[in-house]
Amino acid sequence: MKVLHVVGARPNFVKIAPIFMEMAKHPDIEQVLVHTGQHYDAEMSSIFFEEFGLPDPHVNLGVGSGTHAQQTARVMLELEPLLEEESPDWLVVVGDVNSTVAAALVASKLGIRTAHVEAGLRSFDRTMPEEINRLLTDQLADLLLTPSRDADENLAREGIDAAKIAFVGNVMIDTLIRLQPRVRDRWPELRARLGVEDDYALVTLHRPSNVDDPDTLAQVLGGLGDIGRRMPVLFPIHPRTRRRIEEFGLPFPRGSDLRLMDPLGYIDFMALTAHARLVLTDSGGIQEETTYLGIPCLTIRPNTERPVTLTEGTNRLVESRDDAIVRAAEAVLAGSGAQPGRPELWDGAAAGRIVAALEARRAHDV
Ligand code: UD1
Repeated sequence: MKVLHVVGARPNFVKIAPIFMEMAKHPDIEQVLVHTGQHYDAEMSSIFFEEFGLPDPHVNLGVGSGTHAQQTARVMLELEPLLEEESPDWLVVVGDVNSTVAAALVASKLGIRTAHVEAGLRSFDRTMPEEINRLLTDQLADLLLTPSRDADENLAREGIDAAKIAFVGNVMIDTLIRLQPRVRDRWPELRARLGVEDDYALVTLHRPSNVDDPDTLAQVLGGLGDIGRRMPVLFPIHPRTRRRIEEFGLPFPRGSDLRLMDPLGYIDFMALTAHARLVLTDSGGIQEETTYLGIPCLTIRPNTERPVTLTEGTNRLVESRDDAIVRAAEAVLAGSGAQPGRPELWDGAAAGRIVAALEARRAHDV
């Protein structure tokens, strides 16, 4: 069986790593790893390949940044001849980024079967580019591999044939469990390097809805600045967000221990997550990782496509307003410790179930 994986952006690498490793144990599976080049800075891309023990991609399409249409179209143009040449039995795509939908669209038109990992998640908010990418990828995919039961329900509601759906659990948690020992070992050195104890908040922020509007971004920074008057706030900053702060000329909060730093690799970031009093984010995956680790998470968004992190985990949604952020943070700091949430099949073995699902379909030629 020949499998071609397409990845493009930071969250994709965390998901593809365990699948690639699992397939590498099967001598009858040939793998081709394609990087679209959507993310290209070392700290957004190559550091993850090194940390996860992934080989360099066989091909890098080098599409880089651009508008949504440009990025999606470039992936399609570059990928079409490659898929024709490689002619894999399966295309595997993960998550919800522009590279995901672009690859799924090209493969479907070429009659190449597509498996979508992390299928079925829905925020029901079509102003999010990721929601459009999720909806379309799931319509195109031949095999929909879901991380949670709510995802199965969403797909059923959209009329997707149940025979195409397999509930396999959360593959990001496979990576987290596998790298736990290295994450633990990293802490003493990291703590010394950053000069923090356990009493700090950790932040990530990059959603267009939070960072592309000057007033909203000023509100969020104001809230973070306020928290930074009580405890250090570590903010590894996404290139998009850094650029927006500069572009809008936003003042940096005064008298606050809000510390901007370059984006971090996976091991540093997870070590900081595991020891934080509080995480504030608008990411998808971090909602899941904090739930698994039992760290309180404030998600600065009106909705989430990962509702199990609210019902079974440590996540809470917060408006993008300074007073709302500060009040929610105060509530967390005043409360007792959060309990780790272990939603069904977030057990470190999702990649094994994914490979089994692909092989079963090969056997029956579905
Ligand atoms: C993308 C995904 C988002 C995911 C996020 C993780 C889409 C629609 N969005 O958003 O779902 O949560 O990745 O980070 O696919 N840039 C760099 N260096 C890089 C990458 C990006 O400087 O290595 C800058 C570029 O100037 C670009 C901006 O960041 O314009 C945004 O990058 P882009 O890939 O368009 O989207 P993200 O915001 O990273």
